[in-house]
Order: sequence, then C-alpha cells, then structure tokens
Amino acid sequence: MLLLQSLLLPLAAVLVVGAQEKAGGAFIIELDEKTTTLDAFTESARGINYTVRRTFNTSGVFTGISVDISDGSDLEAVKSSFSAIPGVIGVADIVQYELPPIKSSSIASPEDLSALTKRGEFSSIARREETTEDLGFTLRMGGVDKAHAAGFKGKGVKIAFVDTGIYYKHPALGGGFGPGYKVAGGYSFITDAGVLAESSDPYSDCSQSDHATHVAGMDPLELPDGFPVTGVAPEASLYAYRIFGCSGTGGERPGGSSDLVLAAMLKAMDDGVDVISMSLSLPEGMVGSLPTYDPVASAAQQIKDAGIAIVVAMGNDASQSQNADNL
Ligand SMILES: *[C@@H]1O[C@H](CO)[C@@H](O)[C@H](O)[C@H]1NC(C)=O
Ligand SMILES: *[C@@H]1O[C@H](CO)[C@@H](O)[C@H](O)[C@H]1NC(C)=O
Repeated sequence: MLLLQSLLLPLAAVLVVGAQEKAGGAFIIELDEKTTTLDAFTESARGINYTVRRTFNTSGVFTGISVDISDGSDLEAVKSSFSAIPGVIGVADIVQYELPPIKSSSIASPEDLSALTKRGEFSSIARREETTEDLGFTLRMGGVDKAHAAGFKGKGVKIAFVDTGIYYKHPALGGGFGPGYKVAGGYSFITDAGVLAESSDPYSDCSQSDHATHVAGMDPLELPDGFPVTGVAPEASLYAYRIFGCSGTGGERPGGSSDLVLAAMLKAMDDGVDVISMSLSLPEGMVGSLPTYDPVASAAQQIKDAGIAIVVAMGNDASQSQNADNL
C-alpha cells in the first residue's frame, strides 16, 4: 500500500527563505484594486526589466503580479522602483518551500513495489506482513472518534490540499479523479519535471512526491475491512492543488514558491472549497526573522474572512519545537 508507505512521512514542507528557482530575484507585488489596474501597473513599470510569472485578479481577495528579475539588476533598487508605482500596496520577495527528504519506506502493493524498484528510488522495499500498531490512536487523541460517533464524517465538505501532486488512483483515495470521485477536483501548476505549466489534472505517481497522498489519506481514508485505521473525514471530497514537481535530489524539489501557494489558494477558493489544508511550515528559529509584509498572509486573511478554514502545519519538530506550547 503506497498510502501506508506515505504515512511514515508526515513531514511538512519547510520554508527556505531567499531560495529562488533561478538566479536573480523574484517578487510578488500587491496592487490596490480600488485605485489601479494590472494594465495601469504594466504601463507605469515600463522602465523596469522584468518577466511576468503570474497575475492575480481575485477581487476582494488579492490583486497583483509576480515577476522574475534576471538581468543582474540591483534587486533592492528594483524593489524600490516597483514600490514607488501608484497603487502598489507592497512588494515581497518570493520565498520557496522545500519538501524534506524521504526517511523510510516499508510498505507497498505488488504493483507499486515493482514500479518503485524499477525507478530505483528506494534502496530497500519490503512488504510489512502484519501490523499490531493501532494507527487509530492519533484520531482518538484529536477526539475524531467522538465526532464520527456523533455522525460528523465530512459529508458535503470540500477539502483542498496545496501540496505535491496526488496519487488518486490509490483505492483508498477512490481510484479516480473528477466529479463523483473522492478526489473530486484540483489543479496543477507544475509538471513532474518541475516546469511551471498548468493542467486541470493534479495526478502524480512520483514516489518522491507522495506527500499530498499521505496528507490526503488522513482525511478520507476508506481502507478495506480489517485495516487498523479510518480517516478523519471519510465522507469529504478532496481537491488537490499541485505546487511541487517530482525531480530533484534529497529533499530538494522544484516548485513550492510562495506565488504558487497564493495561486493555489485562490484557485481553491474559486472552486468553492470549505477548507484549505497546507502542510507548509517554518523551520525552527525562523519565526522572528520573517518580513513583516507577507502578501500570502494578506490573501489568507481575506480567504478566511470569506468563511474558508485554512489549516497550516506547525512544523516537523513536535514537542521539541519552540512552538510546542501552542500545540
Ligand atoms: C481584473 O479583471 C477585470 C476583468 O477582466 C478587469 O476589469 C479589472 O480591471 C481587473 N483588475 C485589475 C486590478 O487589473
Ligand atoms: C532584460 O533582461 C533580460 C534577461 O532577463 C536581458 O536578456 C535583456 O537584455 C534585458 N533588457 C534590457 C533592456 O536591459
């Protein structure tokens, strides 16, 4: 079961500030939709040499543009020039999240197993014969058993995951994609190879990127009888928004940039989801050193105010974390 293999990797993607996909710089620029337009901004920014990564035009939530600067310009000077354009609310460096490396993998179905070994990505793969571990204890810790007993199983709720692609062909995730399936919708902003390209299909079976499959598995999980665990919201529908590619070495993965996070959140909102889950976190020690202006946080606030719950990871360090008191 690939899914259970993934259950061994409950690690949030970690923010690496300053890391860019390319040399040079990249910014998200937020515009005040009441006083300017994207066209007016483009006109005013004529003297600046930039390439457009994405534009954002979700009225009442986020309006702006993300750009690359790759001509060797002084980035602080470029930032000041953008900031001086009328209607610009703020200019922020694009930051990047990376997924941690896979630590172990021990369970796979025969088909998964042969696919994985062929790709040579794992040094050893063995089928776990039997488990006496009660994987349901985490649900009881969260009181999920009580919610289920009271009849709350997520029926009618749409949950979005901003993460890697998702292996929705897994039987516990419904085995398919689209209306009527467990994974009912989603979008992809990046290819397996890490190239920015859009697709309405967030499918991925790259073993390096089953993070979303793992996270998604926590919610719907409808495993065959006799399996020791059920999901948090077995009757919910899932929507997968892919912002990480597959390729890369170690934990390094293309994608995960903050403008993709923003685009994915806006797309999920557009799709009418009720919850947005983002397993993205800060490494220890970084909380105090973040910039005060964060366009993704401004958008998150608006999305939350519109009645969509946003769930974000606390980190990978559990009780060792400096934030443990807040857990
Ligand atoms: C957003 O798109 C609408 C429709 O195309 C356009 O009228 C509006 O000016 C755009 N907003 C901005 C800030 O560019
Ligand atoms: C703009 O930047 C590109 C590299 O991104 C460079 O090739 C081009 O020469 C620059 N144009 C000007 C007018 O500086």
